[in-house]
Amino acid sequence: MPRIAVYPGSFDPITNGHLDIIRRSRGLFDLIIVAVNDNPSGDYLFRGEERVRMVKEILGDLSHIEVERFEGLLVDYARDKGAGFIIRGLRALSDFEYEFQMDLMNRRLNPHIETIYLMTNQEYSYLSSSIIKEMVRLGGSTSGLVPDSVREKLLKKMKG
Ligand code: PNS
Repeated sequence: MPRIAVYPGSFDPITNGHLDIIRRSRGLFDLIIVAVNDNPSGDYLFRGEERVRMVKEILGDLSHIEVERFEGLLVDYARDKGAGFIIRGLRALSDFEYEFQMDLMNRRLNPHIETIYLMTNQEYSYLSSSIIKEMVRLGGSTSGLVPDSVREKLLKKMKG
């Protein structure tokens, strides 16, 4: 049976920290589905389709990777995709409580799906989509933190 994993997130926008987790997960699973969450009540800068397009453009046609938008419960989406695993990156201790809560809730909803955590690389440990948005808004450097195409899209979006 192929080992399928879902890597979920808002990816608003995707950062080099996310890309590092995807790259490192590739060797562990037969297929990784990068699942872009599009919750109707979510407060996103980029629309769901924009975020999916952005991730697809960056990943190109890497083998064993798919990118899709999803809404609703993550465990239901994973089950429908035949995925037995969820991948999450852990940056600092501060991520732990939120991830622990989600893990317990997801496990309660579907005990057959296991969440696998990868520790972030040190160079991305302070990185988040929110901090990138703030940097671009205020003119700070994002060199090495997001792909150039992401910075360009952020600048364009923020100019309105
Ligand atoms: O990029 P994020 O904000 O860390 O991603 C959070 C995400 C999308 C993984 C999480 O909010 C999620 O799984 N949303 C789908 C709704 C759901 O299943 N919630 C139950 C988990 S407690």
